[in-house]
Amino acid sequence: MEIIIQPTPDAATNIAARLLARLIREKPASVLGLATGGTMEALYRQLVSMKLDWSKLTTFNLDEYVGLSPQHPQSYHSFMWEHLFSHVNIAIKSVNIPDGLAKDIPIACENYERKIFAAGGIDVQLLGIGTSGHIGFNEPTSSLASRTRIKTLTPQTLRDNARFFGNESGVPHHVITMGIGTILESRHCVLLAFGEKKARAIAEAVEGPITAMNPASALQLHPKVTVFLDEAAAAELKMKDYYRWVYEQKPGWQKI
Ligand code: F6R
Repeated sequence: MEIIIQPTPDAATNIAARLLARLIREKPASVLGLATGGTMEALYRQLVSMKLDWSKLTTFNLDEYVGLSPQHPQSYHSFMWEHLFSHVNIAIKSVNIPDGLAKDIPIACENYERKIFAAGGIDVQLLGIGTSGHIGFNEPTSSLASRTRIKTLTPQTLRDNARFFGNESGVPHHVITMGIGTILESRHCVLLAFGEKKARAIAEAVEGPITAMNPASALQLHPKVTVFLDEAAAAELKMKDYYRWVYEQKPGWQKI
């Protein structure tokens, strides 16, 4: 796991955007796994400003709320069009987001997995992290081998996401999310976390034991993970000086 600590969220976001831009330029037909949430907004703004060619890319989003139509302002469909897809030249047919209105959710989830496989798998999977340690919406005690499926959000996540819905009672209780097993199959996982609220979840995920109590800790099993943090999110890491040192020592050819 590579841990990149920057003084501010903007500085970390800029490096993450460069990493993604490089992939898009080197492999124009890449398959990207995308996330939503406050952390991703600046990243998508940055990517849009880079005027990259999205015409050959395929995307798969991590998750969607059950019961929200794509037009609902808080659906992750709406989020993605507002923050990214409306501003780049992606082909609509290449955008994949779980269907929150699917009549048969287990079948829709199986089909989503099949589509990822048929696309050749995910080259880079973007991830945020919840204060609960969730990645996607794999809440604590999710199976570390889980696949795309329906999950129930924790009261903690309902509280965290109330800010998008005006109040907690508006937040749907159920979601469709890629599983941890699905996420671990992507070729590169890129996680971004900013702010002191994420510090505990990050310390457990990076330096704690691998446990379903912190689903992001499963990333320790993945051979290629890059974690972008600001100082506040890195605050509880015991080895933070070492991570900084490693980043400073990076040979030129490895630099992002
Ligand atoms: C959303 C998702 C979630 C968020 C996480 C952090 O697609 O997968 O895991 O990344 O809840 O959300 P923010 O960035 O709003 O703190």
